[in-house]
Amino acid sequence: MSSKIIVALDFPTLEQALSFVKPLKPEMCRLKVGKELFAVGGPQFVGQLVDQGFDVFLDLKYHDIPNTVKKACQASAELGVWMLNVHSMGGRSMMEAAKEGVLAASHQPKLIAVTILTSHSEQDLEDIGLAGPIQSRVEKLAQLTQASGLDGVVCSAMEAPSLRKLMAPSFELVTPGIRPAGADLGDQKRVMTPREAIDAGSTFLVMGRPITQSDDPIGALEQLNEELKN
Ligand code: C5P
Repeated sequence: MSSKIIVALDFPTLEQALSFVKPLKPEMCRLKVGKELFAVGGPQFVGQLVDQGFDVFLDLKYHDIPNTVKKACQASAELGVWMLNVHSMGGRSMMEAAKEGVLAASHQPKLIAVTILTSHSEQDLEDIGLAGPIQSRVEKLAQLTQASGLDGVVCSAMEAPSLRKLMAPSFELVTPGIRPAGADLGDQKRVMTPREAIDAGSTFLVMGRPITQSDDPIGALEQLNEELKN
């Protein structure tokens, strides 16, 4: 069975990322490549991970005019990634174009959208003219994402229970901010344990430092996969 854990490869250099990935096997976890690592490793690095059999989540959060996002999604899908994402605030026509881009590619990854960044407070939203409770904004954007034909959203695990009730059962809820009980929180504020997040309705868990900074990443992954199996 494939793992529900997506490890965030938040490393500043390719060498560090490659030495972390070397002992891993595709059945242990999926891998997330974000903007920092993509800027240093590019499509070649992503292709290397795909060739090794890993499910890669290309986390570049596209947000632009529909035609540009369509072409970016098509080109990204051609890299053979398992999942990619856009910003739902790009709107319905941008998300529909993103979906068209994926469908035009020779391989169709899951396409998900970011709703409201978890780093945004209600004050931040008010500053950009979006005053109102975050939860209702997230729900509205998730519904727009589903109506635009996408496969899911990135959201906080705190938002998962209400989204699980609103959205189709197959709609993916990909949640960061996950910490095993007793782990260092780092800069994450509202966290859940892996088990709690799955019980709340998450379908995949994005985890960085608890695994990447562990003295024993393989042991940590084995323990997590075991915990989530039951
Ligand atoms: O190390 P940690 O487990 O906190 O890493 C979480 C990962 O999820 C990071 O790559 C971070 O950028 C990403 N992320 C997040 N919160 C979001 C969206 C993405 O923590 N709302």
